[in-house]
Amino acid sequence: MTVTSEQHIEGKRDVTFRVFRLNPQVDSKPYFDDYTIPVERGITVLRALNYIKENIDASVSYRVFCQAGICGSCGMRINGISKLACTTQVWDELPKCREAGIIKIEPLRNLPLLKDLIVDMDPLVGKMKHYRNWVESSMPEPEMGKKEFLVSEEEFSRYDKATDCILCASCVSECSILRANKEYVSPAVLLKSYRMNVDTRDSLHDVRLAELVQDHGVWDCTHCYRCQETCVKNIPIMEAIHGIREDAIECRGLKDSAGAKHAEAFMSDIEKKGKLVEATLPFRTNGVAWTVKNLLPMAVKMIMKRRTPPPPPLVKSSKGMKQFREEFREMTEHVKDDHKTHNK
Ligand code: SF4
Ligand code: SF4
Ligand code: FES
Repeated sequence: MTVTSEQHIEGKRDVTFRVFRLNPQVDSKPYFDDYTIPVERGITVLRALNYIKENIDASVSYRVFCQAGICGSCGMRINGISKLACTTQVWDELPKCREAGIIKIEPLRNLPLLKDLIVDMDPLVGKMKHYRNWVESSMPEPEMGKKEFLVSEEEFSRYDKATDCILCASCVSECSILRANKEYVSPAVLLKSYRMNVDTRDSLHDVRLAELVQDHGVWDCTHCYRCQETCVKNIPIMEAIHGIREDAIECRGLKDSAGAKHAEAFMSDIEKKGKLVEATLPFRTNGVAWTVKNLLPMAVKMIMKRRTPPPPPLVKSSKGMKQFREEFREMTEHVKDDHKTHNK
């Protein structure tokens, strides 16, 4: 096929890769190196990095293995968003550049940096271990090896999507809570815990759930959905997080978790008034003693600035509450039925 000069220009151009650099053994602070190379349409960011490493600067460090979106090794931030370098097209990134023609490449966030674009995955692996994210067989030992442990298609469909996770840590890098609290369980770990907890071959459900409702666990998630938006395998991570929370309330009640009490108080307000009674929410979630001890200074500041929420008697019900309550009741019954069907 004859290539016209216009197609030729559209199909190949110089692109600058602005790459984050830090070798903690020699550098006192991070910096960026610019590498400008000719790139053809169809080239991935990983192939561009390989070109730079092979032809311009062998010291640029990043992790890579399958080069096909399977192993999860090449997670990095490209133009500010965590994704896989081996499945990201340079051409798709060009319109997203802050500075025309310059693609910014940085390491994943929320994990310790080892060198350049390589982060330490040990904290994530450590959390997987802490939350016991493996199947501990519920089959009695004498029966092991004598019969198969079959999983029905219906059961498998409950965690099918979760098994697509390749542990690339892109969701971990984008998690808003992890940025503030590195102890937080993290979305990838919650996804894996959910996958294990709905597996009927597993015997650790109760132990795992007891750990998940502790501090830094499932109730700390703010529902920002960043993890789900970022997931390189389009896994509905939030369904897993909601699934663990529903399971926790069903199996453990409200006794040991401020998060569960918060969810209950939230639902109760919505059912009764169609809106939140914010002034009493902290008391109902954390108790009077905790609220007075921890939130009193903030409450005083809010009073001084006249930013306090209205007291309960002044919170009027939303309009159309009769119909809303009917719909709310139907919705909660539907969710309960759904939950029962899942747990059969
Ligand atoms: S939804 Fe929860 S787990 Fe996901 S990124 Fe936000 S805080 Fe993190
Ligand atoms: S859930 Fe998605 S983004 Fe997170 S580690 Fe797994 S594949 Fe990567
Ligand atoms: S190198 Fe394996 S997912 Fe990119």
